Amino acid sequence: MIRDIANSDLNSIVYVIKETRGIDLGEYAPSSLTRRFLRFMEIMQIWDVKELVSKTRSNKDFADNFLHEITVCVTEMFRDPDFWVIIRDKIIPILQEKKSIKIWHAACSTGEEVLSMAILLKEAGIYNRVEITATDINETVLKIARKGIYLKNKQEINIKNHQKYGGQFPLSDYYGIQDNNVIFDEDLLKNVEYKFHNLAKDQPFGQFDLIICRNVLIYFNKVLQDKVLRSFIEGLNKGSYLGIGSKESITTSNSARFFNAVSLEEKIFQLNPKTGNN
Ligand SMILES: C[S@@+](CC[C@H](N)C(=O)[O-])C[C@H]1O[C@@H](n2cnc3c(N)ncnc32)[C@H](O)[C@@H]1O
Repeated sequence: MIRDIANSDLNSIVYVIKETRGIDLGEYAPSSLTRRFLRFMEIMQIWDVKELVSKTRSNKDFADNFLHEITVCVTEMFRDPDFWVIIRDKIIPILQEKKSIKIWHAACSTGEEVLSMAILLKEAGIYNRVEITATDINETVLKIARKGIYLKNKQEINIKNHQKYGGQFPLSDYYGIQDNNVIFDEDLLKNVEYKFHNLAKDQPFGQFDLIICRNVLIYFNKVLQDKVLRSFIEGLNKGSYLGIGSKESITTSNSARFFNAVSLEEKIFQLNPKTGNN
């Protein structure tokens, strides 16, 4: 078993992923990348970086599988319930004054976060006035998200989180169960567009009232974090809101001065009303 990857080998892996899948991991934090590469090698029982590079280059399914493993797709509904409480109690009462509301879920993974938002908006009575765009770099997770069908064994944590959040109705009101699957109401996805977007490379594509980007900045180095935060500033309307993950921070970023904290604990910020578009 190998325990570390030399910098030159790390660069070869990053290079072959960029060459074969068009995804540049060059600005991801090296320590996190190394951990994920080693984990994938162990799962695949590959003990030599040259073999990893050659398989990634010659086999598309292998390369897709590799990319899927290293882009950590773990997610839950109502993850960090207090985050959703602040969105419901502090942000929605302000946004609901608008005629139409645009929300971007960046790095949405399999879509549990988007379903949580859809339920929250329905219970606030404003879902019909909201357009949600949800994006990720990984086509496999986007396919799952578009269907809104999940394995039953993922439901226990979702129900626990939802109870802590304190929704108006039981979570089970929003889905049916068939065999081993939980199938969410199609209605929850009717105002949602899922699409591919690479935060490391692609430009922001609209103006939003709320951007939620949780648990992905943590994998980026500081330069890329700054670049992504700058693109969020461009993509937010004046005085609009940004929510990031509980272990993430904007305070050391060059962009911090453009934001005021709504909740430091839950990492929800308002773009300074003098900054942004509109
Ligand atoms: C840990 S999940 C977070 C999911 C959800 N936001 C949450 O907090 O529960 C991280 C997601 O970031 C996505 N991702 C990684 N790099 C990305 C990039 N450069 N652009 C867009 N999404 C990316 C991964 O594919 C994965 O689905």
